[in-house]
Amino acid sequence: MPEYVVKSDLLGKSFPGPKRGEENVVFENVNFRLERGEFVTCIGHSGCGKSTILNIIAGLEKPSSGCVLVDGKTIDGPGRDRAVVFQNHSLLPWLSAQRNVDFAVKARWPDWDSDTVRAHSRKYLSLASLSDGLDRKPHALSGGMRQRVGIARAFALETEVLLMDEPFGALDALTRGSIQDELIKIWSETRKTVFMITHDVDEAILLSDRIFLMTNGPRANIAEAVVVDIPRPRNRGDIIHHPGYYDIRNHIIDFLVQRSKELSGNVRSIPLSEVQIEQGLVYPPDVNPLKTDACRSSVRMRA
Ligand SMILES: Nc1ncnc2c1ncn2[C@@H]1O[C@H](COP(=O)(O)OP(=O)(O)O)[C@@H](O)[C@H]1O
Ligand SMILES: [Mg+2]
Repeated sequence: MPEYVVKSDLLGKSFPGPKRGEENVVFENVNFRLERGEFVTCIGHSGCGKSTILNIIAGLEKPSSGCVLVDGKTIDGPGRDRAVVFQNHSLLPWLSAQRNVDFAVKARWPDWDSDTVRAHSRKYLSLASLSDGLDRKPHALSGGMRQRVGIARAFALETEVLLMDEPFGALDALTRGSIQDELIKIWSETRKTVFMITHDVDEAILLSDRIFLMTNGPRANIAEAVVVDIPRPRNRGDIIHHPGYYDIRNHIIDFLVQRSKELSGNVRSIPLSEVQIEQGLVYPPDVNPLKTDACRSSVRMRA
């Protein structure tokens, strides 16, 4: 049996609407599973509720209905089992890059002496390809470096789950590319469970084991989990030549252009295509076919 680290059950979130007594149901009945060590990204149009889901998993927001369990326990606020990376770095401006990571590590392991803290930070900074300029404060670092420090800090906490909300959203394409490489490297070393929001389809395919596709709000839902069965290690240059790459890419683009609207508010009434399921391309988000015997043959068929 796969081991699920994060599990959402009938998750819903509503905010008060513009008129008195009115409710804006952002999403409802959202069910998904994240397996230990899995890299899952989430794509959907702006405003569908991606950040709200991530913030609920982070414990920064409360659901209106349903719940999220981490390692079998209902979330009740932020915890040591989860770390978050946001789009805009949240480094402490008065501390150097190195000290930003040291500070978080020291808070996590207060008994460690300063040499141990520093060595631990260095390990993760170097996995994020950071060795120069570590004595500079955030304002003196490039945007890419700031995000690298944020990622190094989050991984240095060695939490079971890492949550990333469009961590590269504010970066130019070239910087974005190289920082994706670093993220792959650091994740491959640590094999933590990652839930990441992105709006970049190629980035999602490069990084993910599965990609959650969200319908438009209100009453949004995760309609599908696209399986990325392209073998690892992957790199940006080669992945586009994989025979399955454009199947997956076109499927996601088609979803974003067309079906995210058609399915809006209506996910339960439109079943996933049986053919696509048989081909091993899409699954409901609460099933991980890569790890279930019943589905192995279909995955092999695509290899
Ligand atoms: N604190 C809040 N109060 C009222 N509405 C909110 C609040 N936070 C988010 N929303 C609404 O919830 C919806 C989803 O927001 P969000 O999760 O940020 O979407 P996404 O990350 O997919 O762009 C939006 O319509 C947004 O206006
Ligand atoms: Mg968002």
